[in-house]
Amino acid sequence: MWFGKRLGERVQIVQKLIINGPCGVKGETYIQGAKNSVLPILAATILVKGESIIKNCPDILDVHTSLEILNYLGCKTNFTNFTITVNSENISKHDIPEFLMRKMRSSIIFLGALISRTGHAKLTLPGGCELGPRPIDMHISSLRQLGVFIEESHGEINCKIKRKLVGTNITLTFPSVGTTENIMLAAASCAGQTIINNAAREPEIVDLAAFMNKLGAKIYGAGGNQIIIDGSQKFTQTEHTIIPDRIVATTLMATAAATGSSIILKKIDPSLLYSSISIFEEAGCYIQIIDKNILKITSPEKLQSVKKIRTMPYPGFPTDNQAPVMAMLATAYGTSIFVETIFESRFKHICELSRLGAKIKTEGNVAIVEGTSKLSGANVKATDLRGAAALLVAGLAAEGQTTISDLEHFLRGYEWNKIQPILSSNVKYL
Ligand code: EPU
Repeated sequence: MWFGKRLGERVQIVQKLIINGPCGVKGETYIQGAKNSVLPILAATILVKGESIIKNCPDILDVHTSLEILNYLGCKTNFTNFTITVNSENISKHDIPEFLMRKMRSSIIFLGALISRTGHAKLTLPGGCELGPRPIDMHISSLRQLGVFIEESHGEINCKIKRKLVGTNITLTFPSVGTTENIMLAAASCAGQTIINNAAREPEIVDLAAFMNKLGAKIYGAGGNQIIIDGSQKFTQTEHTIIPDRIVATTLMATAAATGSSIILKKIDPSLLYSSISIFEEAGCYIQIIDKNILKITSPEKLQSVKKIRTMPYPGFPTDNQAPVMAMLATAYGTSIFVETIFESRFKHICELSRLGAKIKTEGNVAIVEGTSKLSGANVKATDLRGAAALLVAGLAAEGQTTISDLEHFLRGYEWNKIQPILSSNVKYL
């Protein structure tokens, strides 16, 4: 059963989670495919006039929104058993309606892909954002450097290639993930060579490059801070398997750590988890890597605090892990400090965590977490995707009943069917 909205079907939607805590997690589960990999890869499928087969796709709301966009553009899509087939033989549109842009801010990634395939793209600005302002100035200026003519007015971005796209040298002021992806998508069909300096190095960029190279693009250096793209016009249909989701893996590790439990996570890539593993070990957890892609976490009854966690671009500690790991350290012995350097406003979960008894103070981009011996259940509201994950972590550790509402934020990125196996019957949904 899927727990969100499925296209053309009526299925159950999880509205609320009710946790009668404290309740530990146990057993084992598989880690879903990475959200931040599959979303740009689905956008990249429109480069080829043919079929792409993408395996290990997570069954999450953001993937369904991407499929809505692809269907709107004229593609034929099918999503069965974690495999998505996209036939992009006929692209009949080059705009994305505002209601779809607002559903998923990362729909901005279709900009580079549409330019590459059709020479046009008309999008609206993604709406007011829960992580603070998320400007797209770097996306726009990079595409302009490649020769895209862009007009911005009344919240609309209208892009056209006047003559042709020409490769160039682009230096980013910050290694933005989305900007790096949009340049790769647009530069793939440029004349000549494009060099991205200070490129984002995230594993999801490497996965996008791997998919695009299978399509026929010529991308070198992904994973390093300089990416070289030799323009090509010939793309052929291909098959690809999405890498495991490192953020979901860390979130589930946090549920075990916060509740003194032990769980086994299968289908992980431990090399993507180094920055998290070191923090769990510092907090007193015992991590074993079994058989290359299986991780076992065993947690002490009481966690130790972690001195300082600073969110950084990869390979640093990911901003996406900040909220769930903060919830886990709210139960630790001692004081932990978080410095959020990526997003301006990524502390919205703190207010809700405080309702559960967490003792967290903020000053600008710094959060000081005084571990408490007891969290206590309360009614809380998810404010954003990773904030929702933090509430699950804290709710499991809290004594008494916690009700988490606005759960659709959680379903944007977490596959409920892969989380449920480790939860006890004390966690119910409405
Ligand atoms: N930024 C600008 N101008 C731009 C682009 C970015 O100022 O033109 C700023 C942003 O406002 C932010 C920083 O640069 O302060 C980083 O943004 P980046 O472009 O790297 O992030 P993104 O591409 O919008 C992706 C992930 C996020 C993840 C970040 C950072 C996807 C679909 N989204 O966003 O994932 O937090 O990279 O790693 O890949 C999540 O999964 O919960 C999530 C938010």
